[in-house]
Amino acid sequence: MKADSPVAAPRHFLDLDAFDGAALRRIVALGAEAKRRGRALGAPLAGRALAMVFELPSTRTRLSFELAMARLGGHAVAVGAADSQLGRGESIADTARVLSRYADAIVLRAARHDTLLAMAGAAEVPVINGLTDRSHPVQLLADVMTVEEKLGPIAGRTVAWTGDGNNVAASWIHAAARFGFTLRLACPPAFAPAPALLDWARAEGAAVSLHDDPYAAVAGADCVVTDTWVSMGDAPGDRRRPLAPYRVDEALMAAAGPEALFLHCLPAHRGEEVVDSVIDGPRSAVWDQAENRLHAQAGLLLWCLDAAG
Ligand code: CP
Ligand code: NVA
Repeated sequence: MKADSPVAAPRHFLDLDAFDGAALRRIVALGAEAKRRGRALGAPLAGRALAMVFELPSTRTRLSFELAMARLGGHAVAVGAADSQLGRGESIADTARVLSRYADAIVLRAARHDTLLAMAGAAEVPVINGLTDRSHPVQLLADVMTVEEKLGPIAGRTVAWTGDGNNVAASWIHAAARFGFTLRLACPPAFAPAPALLDWARAEGAAVSLHDDPYAAVAGADCVVTDTWVSMGDAPGDRRRPLAPYRVDEALMAAAGPEALFLHCLPAHRGEEVVDSVIDGPRSAVWDQAENRLHAQAGLLLWCLDAAG
């Protein structure tokens, strides 16, 4: 909670591209340490508070932040935007100013990325991106942590994304540049990531490629990733027909490396982007991935609140 004294700029966590690789490695390492030490970490966030605002539904993000704060000795509260005065027209900037007086950090899940930027622009405490239409960086902290638990360092590995080039795909592109892995994306042309994002990644020296053919993208990959074909805020329209060839089924997994992992941020739409036998199969790491949201975000909270010791 900051009152009237101006201090250093808050440690916002808005997108992975704003950080260098070393800073992100530090956050992931803090998450891994939080997982390893568990209760032995004590209560480094005792007396600290997290305020969360959700414009869109959430299971994992909301509960993993809330329970991570509890594990670290802090407290979290969440409100749905529609249930707050935001729903009656109070501005996001005024909300940010008020929450900065109540809490030590803010998580926002916003339908539009500009709303997140407005929150960060007015807040006096760290603002964390809990997903927007553009990106989902906290998801990637858990995803990188999961790959490294299973396979060792992600640098130099190959990850294949197949399906919609959505907000989660965008954060995978940022991550490829910052963590130094190869990323091959297979998306229908109408649902490919923005060319400017791919240009950014290549300018950063990232090995990122875009394919029409999911089999070309997954060949020899260490990890196959997908996500829903209809993200929150997307008009369902005719998305399922062009995306159907990008479904992760056993034939597609067979085309990846024999030990390739399967990841999905969840919620899954079984029978659409992934079949039961893959998500429930031996190469699926989705439950560890979901668990790691808790630990990775514990690391992030320690970093944002400068409480890592
Ligand atoms: N993966 C993820 O962010 O899930 P929720 O929408 O349940 O938070
Ligand atoms: N791309 C999905 C992710 C959900 C966690 C969405 O935005 O709905």
